[in-house]
Amino acid sequence: MRTRTGYSPALMRTLTDSPAWHSLKQHAEALRPISLRQLFEKNPDRFEQLSLRHEDLLVDFSKHRITPETLQLLCALARQEQLETWRDRMFGGEPINSTEHRAVLHVALRNRSERAICVGDRDVMPDVRRVLEQMRTFSEQVRSGKLLGFTGQRFRSVVNIGIGGSDLGPHMVCEALAPYQNEAFRPHFVSNVDGAHLHETLASLDPATTLFVVASKTFTTQETMTNAASARDWLVRHLGSESAVASHFVAVSTNHAAVQAFGISAERTFEFWDWVGGRYSLWSAIGLPISLALGWDSFEQLLAGAHALDEHFRAAPLETNLPVILGLVGIWYRNFLGASSYAVLPYDQHLHRFPAYLQQADMESNGKRVRRDGEAVDYATGPVLWGEPGTNGQHAFYQLLHQGTEMVPADFLAAAEPHHPLTKHHVKLLANFLAQPAALAFGRTLEEARAELTKAGLSESEIEGLAPHKVFPGNRPSTSIVYRKLTPYTLGKLIALYEHKIFVQGVIWSINSFDQWGVELGKQLAQRIIPELDASHDPVSHDASTRRLILYLRQLRGSG
Ligand code: F6P
Repeated sequence: MRTRTGYSPALMRTLTDSPAWHSLKQHAEALRPISLRQLFEKNPDRFEQLSLRHEDLLVDFSKHRITPETLQLLCALARQEQLETWRDRMFGGEPINSTEHRAVLHVALRNRSERAICVGDRDVMPDVRRVLEQMRTFSEQVRSGKLLGFTGQRFRSVVNIGIGGSDLGPHMVCEALAPYQNEAFRPHFVSNVDGAHLHETLASLDPATTLFVVASKTFTTQETMTNAASARDWLVRHLGSESAVASHFVAVSTNHAAVQAFGISAERTFEFWDWVGGRYSLWSAIGLPISLALGWDSFEQLLAGAHALDEHFRAAPLETNLPVILGLVGIWYRNFLGASSYAVLPYDQHLHRFPAYLQQADMESNGKRVRRDGEAVDYATGPVLWGEPGTNGQHAFYQLLHQGTEMVPADFLAAAEPHHPLTKHHVKLLANFLAQPAALAFGRTLEEARAELTKAGLSESEIEGLAPHKVFPGNRPSTSIVYRKLTPYTLGKLIALYEHKIFVQGVIWSINSFDQWGVELGKQLAQRIIPELDASHDPVSHDASTRRLILYLRQLRGSG
């Protein structure tokens, strides 16, 4: 029998005590002394055996410290942890977000098939299609100039006011697909409660031609509500009338009452549902800035790409399933080879917000220390995810990747074709994209370093002094991800690939990847501190450090 949390007591046992885990531990010990150089020498078919394709997307896992047997053992772990059942439960609309009793159905938002997707006995697809149609109509009316601002002028800019999942996804997509944007209509994103963000964004905008999207699932988030209120003041101040708000503000939220209280009408509200997690919401009306900035066709292509990857994830056997293998390889490093961080390195300038987006997707989902049943884990869960576009990162932190004491598994991403005409640049970009994973994997031995220095004419003593510094230990793992071009369709696939990878890892770790209780405590404390920063009484209820910092800030601000 299943409990309310979806955890079956009959299956209770420790993951680290399970047969599949033990087999992987033994396998890791056996593989530890074998280098990637040796693995490539021994098996000339590694690339064929350890790379996967879906349409034009090629994912090369062969530069990982794995063999085909590792993948078999990892797939056995996935089966032991009932990955396929959990996947089907997600697609089936079961309330797998157990602490919030919610279904997890971002896949319904991009379901391009005729298949019904139900929460309880209600098919959610009619609601999904209705809101998509509302988004399409609104975006087309704004873009075509049919819908005008309060003073009768065309909209030229949209400012999305949201934070976390209500910002990172649409922001990343608008940047990634900048070549699809129209010069005449530009998106802007304000997230930080630091007034500099809103102030500096508005400074370059004309109130008469600016549309605001207030995006917040809860419509209570401090940062978003503060920015929205200040943006409304700015608009009213410049356009001289409260009535301007109705023409210049729309909302995206699940909280209709709070939206109305803010002064945005039901017709200007775009609905979504509690079964859409914030960090999985760019496919919902939270994607409105995307359809406004890129046009409806691009937004639909984004959905179509994600749907294609969903179908692959739903149907492909574990052994050839891209997000499954990506997730399991991550488990291998985190739990069996001791990696604590994970880098995402797009050789694609347009993906410069992709690592930031993935930080929320991954770390808010899998940065958990208790299992679904409330017991503390006795194994590592989500790693620290970070990254920057190549080649910039090469001139910053790659030193540590190549020669530091940490092993950081990395994903390298690149498009075969750029959107710009500077082909010479692209060849150099691709050469770097290929060179770095090879250097990480195969390194340079002491003998090779010595030989190079000898060839360069250095003396014996100079060689002895310098050679150790020129050694690259190698054996540093990476995944290479190649696609034809960063189109909306391809981007949809890439995002869905990572979303499902996160899901796979959450299942293996028996954690709920869809809640985020860890963000609560800091928010509550901040609410308590707000009035204390301007008060005159001694904030004695705080710890000594926080109290003294409050007092010092008051002093500097002239209020203490
Ligand atoms: O602080 C975390 C969080 O709850 C995220 O999960 C969410 O994406 C973000 O805040 C914004 O929340 P909302 O859309 O409700 O404003």
